[in-house]
Amino acid sequence: MVKVTVCGAAGGIGQPLSLLLKQSDLITHLALYDIVNAAGVAADLSHINTASKVTGHAGKDALAEALSGAHTVVIPAGVPRKPGMTRDDLFKVNAGIVRDLAEACAKHCPKAFILVISNPVNSTVPIVCEVFKKAGVFDPRKVFGVTTLDVVRSSTFVNHIKPQFEPQSNRITVVGGHSGATIVPLLSQIKQVTFTPAEIKALTNRIQFGGDEVVKAKDGAGSATLSMAHAGARFTTSLLEASVRGKRGLVESTYIHLKGNAGAEWNARSTGLEYFAQDVELGPEGVANVLALPDLSAEEDALVKIAIGELKGNITKGVGFVTAIP
Ligand code: NAI
Repeated sequence: MVKVTVCGAAGGIGQPLSLLLKQSDLITHLALYDIVNAAGVAADLSHINTASKVTGHAGKDALAEALSGAHTVVIPAGVPRKPGMTRDDLFKVNAGIVRDLAEACAKHCPKAFILVISNPVNSTVPIVCEVFKKAGVFDPRKVFGVTTLDVVRSSTFVNHIKPQFEPQSNRITVVGGHSGATIVPLLSQIKQVTFTPAEIKALTNRIQFGGDEVVKAKDGAGSATLSMAHAGARFTTSLLEASVRGKRGLVESTYIHLKGNAGAEWNARSTGLEYFAQDVELGPEGVANVLALPDLSAEEDALVKIAIGELKGNITKGVGFVTAIP
């Protein structure tokens, strides 16, 4: 039995993400939770002729049932950005939503993998971890900030200017966090193509602020949903491949709690941070090993320093949101 629960399943990301997860033969039960319209989305998806069972759970009273027995919980619940907003502007609304969902997860599925999509990821992941710590059920290997969209965008945007770079099979490491200047793509690690300094600068900027392109184009109707659903399904699938099927050597960039994870001491020491996105090898229990940061170019080194400065504030804000209340 592999039950995957999507919290926020009726939303812009939740619906296409659930559709993609319905295609997975690794999932036996797809539980869709939302405060609205979960039953409709579940009824619709349940007619697809793949093996998994689909159930809908609407409203807070249905949350326990949605979460109990979950192997993995994916959280795209909360409000998205509108033009002119930063991800941090979402904190006011989304912090409380993520905290409440995390409290329910700690109670009803304390051993589940928790995949956080809701922004600001730099702060919402610390919120989940602190809630789990408070409940005495925290396992740092099991909580992930989904930063895969930055990785997906990196490959796509590199391919746009270097068509010989194959975007689907070539993964680019993205470290730091998931907002503007905290997103640091390690373009110096790409071996297949070369870049001029101007290309590196333009690409880095496009990857860091790629989300803004979508927010602007949608003109008030939200942020990335379809590409995010693709990225979220990719990360979920990698984690399930590693944890359910026992596949080895699967690596994804993801934002995690460093302390308590194998291989993370070096990153924690060099960044001075409690949370950081970096390449992680996935395994049966989630994080199997955090890969050390590779040798960075001088430009990347400077970008990581800027990211660290911003991440410190984001992390403190998330941690404080939970620990300030006794
Ligand atoms: P949306 O507004 O279309 O959907 C959000 C859904 O969450 C709605 O169906 C809403 O009813 C539901 N919801 C609200 N409160 C809830 C609660 N307490 N419990 C369960 N469900 C609840 O928003 P969209 O576009 O799907 O974005 C969701 C989140 O994902 C936003 O915070 C957005 O910023 C973030 N996001 C993250 C990305 C990433 O790379 N990690 C990329 C794009 C968006």
